[in-house]
Amino acid sequence: AAGEPAAQGDAEQVVPAEAFAESPESAGLAPEVDDLGDAAPAYDEDMREAVHRVMRERRDIRNGFRSDPIPHEVLIRVLEAAHTAPSVGYSQPWDFVVIRSAKTRARMHELAERQRDVYAESLPKGRAKQFKELKIEAIRETPVNIVVTADRTRGGRHTLGRHTQPQMAPYSAALAVENLWLAARAEGLGVGWVSFFDEEELVRELGLPEHLEVVAYLCVGYVNEFPDEPELAQAGWAKKRPLSWVVHEETYGRRALPGEEPHSVLQETLRGIRPLDAKALGEAWDRQKRMTKPAGSLGMLEIISAQLCGLSRKCPPPIPEPACVAIFAGDHGVHAQGVTPWPQEVTAQMVGNFLAGGAVINSFASQLGAEVCVVDVGVASELPPAIDSGRTTGLLPRKVRPGTADMTQGPAMSREEAMRALEVGIETARDLVAAGNKALVTGDMGIANTTAAAALISVFTGEDPAAVTGRGTGIDDETHARKVAVIRQALDLHRPDPSDPIGVLAAVGGLEHAAIAGFLLGAASLRTPVILDGVIAGSAALVAKAIAPEVLAACIAGHRSAEPGHKAALAKLGLRPLIDLDLRLGEGTGALLALPLVQSAARAMHDVATFDSAGVTEKH
Ligand SMILES: Cc1cc2nc3c(=O)[nH]c(=O)nc-3n(C[C@H](O)[C@H](O)[C@H](O)COP(=O)(O)O)c2cc1C
Repeated sequence: AAGEPAAQGDAEQVVPAEAFAESPESAGLAPEVDDLGDAAPAYDEDMREAVHRVMRERRDIRNGFRSDPIPHEVLIRVLEAAHTAPSVGYSQPWDFVVIRSAKTRARMHELAERQRDVYAESLPKGRAKQFKELKIEAIRETPVNIVVTADRTRGGRHTLGRHTQPQMAPYSAALAVENLWLAARAEGLGVGWVSFFDEEELVRELGLPEHLEVVAYLCVGYVNEFPDEPELAQAGWAKKRPLSWVVHEETYGRRALPGEEPHSVLQETLRGIRPLDAKALGEAWDRQKRMTKPAGSLGMLEIISAQLCGLSRKCPPPIPEPACVAIFAGDHGVHAQGVTPWPQEVTAQMVGNFLAGGAVINSFASQLGAEVCVVDVGVASELPPAIDSGRTTGLLPRKVRPGTADMTQGPAMSREEAMRALEVGIETARDLVAAGNKALVTGDMGIANTTAAAALISVFTGEDPAAVTGRGTGIDDETHARKVAVIRQALDLHRPDPSDPIGVLAAVGGLEHAAIAGFLLGAASLRTPVILDGVIAGSAALVAKAIAPEVLAACIAGHRSAEPGHKAALAKLGLRPLIDLDLRLGEGTGALLALPLVQSAARAMHDVATFDSAGVTEKH
């Protein structure tokens, strides 16, 4: 791929090899080899395997419990294991309330059901459908329920280690839960953790002393079987994250498993990007021909469904639901050049509006059953908190810097910042796909971001700035002329080289453009379809394509915006937009409107009968 070496070389600049040249030994961190003596013996292989096996085969169980009673000696062994857990300052802050009464369990079930309804109500429709099928507790089906509590006051004022981190008491109790869970597995007992409780209600109902907090409500009983993987993974609710995503060497962000060379998230992502699978594509075309409809009669939707097959390597493809719109928000130093009549603080204000559910994107998302999240990759001003009263608000705070610099005066950002913003996008795609989303939708918010988009499009298409610069949020002739001149000035200053996409982003890009480029690369590496919104996404797709051309395997152009640059970008990308309604709002609105088309294309592959199966005679 033309762009790959440049991008990878760049990644290496961010993680300089010299940083790892000094080994711990040469840095004087490891003792002399001669002085070590014998280490404590490890377990033998069978024992070690037994330990790992119990961790691997521990499952959260909600289905298939049996009513067999649990012998007292078995339950004592399990509770003893829990009581052996590590605890802050050896405070052993837990208590275990063993509940057997059918009446109490019925009441607890009622409480959990109520909270289940509250949660279901809060879900986007695409998720709620999935949630309806899930069992989330087995309170009445299990002979024993165990409430695990934590006492933050146990041991008095001076508990060692709790002084600076008071939350260590409930953490310790959570470790007791894990011990209990593992020991139960070894006994053939299933455990299901239920957290669908209003805690105060639970404390009141169970008559617990007020100084205790409930850490866990566990349903325990013998089971018919232990599933091989988490029930939520089996149901497609969430996916396992690979170990390589979560291990950092020395400093956060330097990914490497022990013994590996540190690599950037971008490098790892590029390794996962592949073209559409030829076999699944072939099956898709074949199936299209056999479906009970004239060949080709679904037009563009047939192309989309074949793409979904090739991308997922499955025919029929997974239905792209649930879906999530990620709105990448950032500010722009070039705003100072008077390229828009809107004040810069509108970016932050609109982020507040998205989070409060008051924007057009929220309205469309609620109609179409999608989730909306906002990624702050570079908003200049203060934003509302990401966690409010203990609850997530939908904001992902990933600020690389508070707005770019003015591209007419110098680079918009450093290469390192461009890389970091790109990786924010990759990691957002990872998070959303691991959380169970089967389609991603790009969105953006950034006053003055069409200026950066036009500059990027001019670089990658070779078009003159005047041909690709639009009126954004609606500017007059004078402002438009200034906008074109500003872009020309920036391009003259930097002379960006399209074969160095990170360099182009750094010179004239925006933080949200970089992040969206990463988002597309991330989606492609996870073989998940991503629907592109308007001109910002189009410009970001040009960057992504310059880094890894196969990224387009995952990309679907949702709509064509009224911005002239978008048309040029789509032409260069070779993407045909699904809808063309003169939208020029951004936020992800156009892309989201295309979501049901993409979902319908996949659905038809599943549902529509074939000539042979339906006994319909084919055309001669
Ligand atoms: C703190 C905590 C709370 C949980 N609460 C619930 C719950 O309310 N309902 C439920 O069905 N599962 C609950 N679970 C179980 C998780 O869904 C489960 O651990 C996860 O899907 C991984 O599956 P596994 O435990 O089988 O590996 C909880 C797990 C933990 C650790």
